[in-house]
Amino acid sequence: MTRRRILVTSALPYANGPIHLGYALEAIQTDIWARFQRLRGHECHYVCADDTHGTPIMLKAQKDGITPEALIDAVHADHVRDLADLGISLDNFGSTHSPETRAVAERMYRIIRERGFIDRRSVRQAYDAKAQMFLPDRYVRGNCPNCNTPDQYGDSCEVCGATYSPSDLKNPVSTVTGTTPVERESEHYFFRLSAFTDMLRQWVGSGAVTTGVARKLEEWFSQGLKDWDISRDAPYFGFEIPDAPGKYFYVWFDAPIGYLGSFTQLCARQGLSFEEFLAPDSDAELHHFIGKDILYFHTLFWPAVLDAARMRRPTAVHAHGFVTVNGEKMSKSRGTFIMARRYLDHFGAESLRYYYASKLGAGLDDLDLNLDDFVARCNSDIVGKLVNIASRCAAILHRGSGGELAAQLHDADLQHAFTAAADGIASAYEHLDYAGAIRQIMGLADRANLYIDQTKPWLMAKDAARAAEVQRVCTQGLNLFRTLMIYLKPVLPFMADKANRFFGESVWSWEDAGKALLGRRISAYEPLATRLDPKVAARLIETPAEDAAPAAAKAGSPAAGKATASRGTVATGAAAGASAAPAASSAPAPASGPAPSISIDEFGRLDLRVAKILAADHIEGADKLLRLQVDLGELGRRQVFAGIRAAYEPASLVGKLVVVVANLAPRKMRFGVSEGMVLAAGPGGKDIFLVSPESGAAAGMRVK
Ligand code: MSP
Ligand code: ZN
Repeated sequence: MTRRRILVTSALPYANGPIHLGYALEAIQTDIWARFQRLRGHECHYVCADDTHGTPIMLKAQKDGITPEALIDAVHADHVRDLADLGISLDNFGSTHSPETRAVAERMYRIIRERGFIDRRSVRQAYDAKAQMFLPDRYVRGNCPNCNTPDQYGDSCEVCGATYSPSDLKNPVSTVTGTTPVERESEHYFFRLSAFTDMLRQWVGSGAVTTGVARKLEEWFSQGLKDWDISRDAPYFGFEIPDAPGKYFYVWFDAPIGYLGSFTQLCARQGLSFEEFLAPDSDAELHHFIGKDILYFHTLFWPAVLDAARMRRPTAVHAHGFVTVNGEKMSKSRGTFIMARRYLDHFGAESLRYYYASKLGAGLDDLDLNLDDFVARCNSDIVGKLVNIASRCAAILHRGSGGELAAQLHDADLQHAFTAAADGIASAYEHLDYAGAIRQIMGLADRANLYIDQTKPWLMAKDAARAAEVQRVCTQGLNLFRTLMIYLKPVLPFMADKANRFFGESVWSWEDAGKALLGRRISAYEPLATRLDPKVAARLIETPAEDAAPAAAKAGSPAAGKATASRGTVATGAAAGASAAPAASSAPAPASGPAPSISIDEFGRLDLRVAKILAADHIEGADKLLRLQVDLGELGRRQVFAGIRAAYEPASLVGKLVVVVANLAPRKMRFGVSEGMVLAAGPGGKDIFLVSPESGAAAGMRVK
């Protein structure tokens, strides 16, 4: 197989608000494809960036009393964190407001101008004399010229659907100052899109878009392509156009160039060649993933701009439909405009990734996130079908054969049927039919469960004479599970990594699904997922007030500390923390469902302190706990029991700083009194992470 070189992008989210579950669909769709390509051994780079320029961001910053730079920086940090916690494997997440994007934009513009594809024309436009700025259509409101409905935008009427220009509105008002706009003339720069009609027709015919999209484009071609105004007057947050003082690139001109600005950063960091990917004769692939609302920009303007600037055109533009929630358009007023962070505070990323994948096809259909169905689907497929195979077989194998896989399978034909499905599943992923891939994989999971139900290894195990057969049956079940996890790795990367470690193998590639794993010892089984709670899902929809908080205010909020936990398996949440409770009652590790949320007031009642570990010891008769002596500075010394024995050698803890809940009521345990609780996060067992505070912290310091 030849190794493909692929550059992949998701559309750039606007830098004026947090990531929501609609954008999450796009990021997840792109990410599954990128991970699939890498799993297949191809070279695949995935870049994205924030879309930072334009009037809305300029005005929002003004309203918040900050500079646009401060606004976009705060949002950038939030976006990076949210996308990471959704498991999005971006190689670079840049910004359109970067020196790299500016450089590429100027370079492309200069070539386009030299080739004669830029015209200058005078344009009459609504102007707000009080704010001293030209008004984009959306910032003028008034009565519809057609049906007279009041308070309509300057470009179209929500009631009768008429489209018009702001100067047609009756009683127009600027939404910036409330004054009546005037008309003003100014010189604008136009990109001669019409000159690229034939080239675009040919490109569309090359298979760069699906036939559904191609039909849509044919409508636009038949109406004739209009030249495109790529300039805006100051004041504007953006890049000034070379040799045109006071004129700025329109946000949609430099937005897709942001893909290339972000890729430039990646090239610099990894020593890749920009030209090899972007030259007109490049044999690398360029794939853009977008929503159906921005097709015009990506299938007409963008390929034409690339071509005009003597660059290659996209290999493909993949468009998806919109996320609806419980059957309706996401809406702030109904509380269904769910932010990614809100989701992640309640569930792990992989549940959403799985649910979206199970419903996503290659077309433009909308995808409904029905919360009851979401819970039912994850519980039935991931917990009921998939994980069930491994947990049943691993338990019996460990009991009967000390975790040693048999040297041969019990039913080689069955395993063969699983590996024979590889090509069909790969083709479904490749063509963005994720629903089809999941359907095939879950069909196999059903067969695996049926096999186990019919062979009944737990009954066989009662007969000592059949030990070897039991071992082969469990080896079979675990191999079937292993094959499924490799197929699912693009969708469930964390769970797959965990399963990968459970089998003790080097990092899986797609080919590994074709080989059975035999005659070796595997680790103890740790739960890979637990059930989702429908009551928790219902909590995703609520009054949207808290999500509306400005990004800057959220930075450093308590939720930030959960980032590590939510990168775990399907399962995340505060409940995964190691506790000082007696071993018998310590919370079952990897909590899949998150704990119920607590209010900020409840959180405020915790006295969190930095503590220095003075001594750490094993305890006779306790296989999960360590006895710690900690120094809490002004609060003195304390004895604390922590359930982290599996993860840490006692000696390695001495001298470490940890965060302790200092005001937990003392509890009498079998081994003595515990006078606090050490905070840690992770799925449990060996994978527990003590939160180690920044250097310079001193014992006793308050954490909040
Ligand atoms: N900034 C532009 C894109 C520039 S790309 C060079 C933009 N930003 S956006 O934040 O409004 O949307 C980003 C992407 O999210 C778009 O592809 C859009 O289609 C997608 N989605 C926004 N809401 C969505 C849903 N409800 N469902 C699915 N995707 C949605 O457009
Ligand atoms: Zn109207």
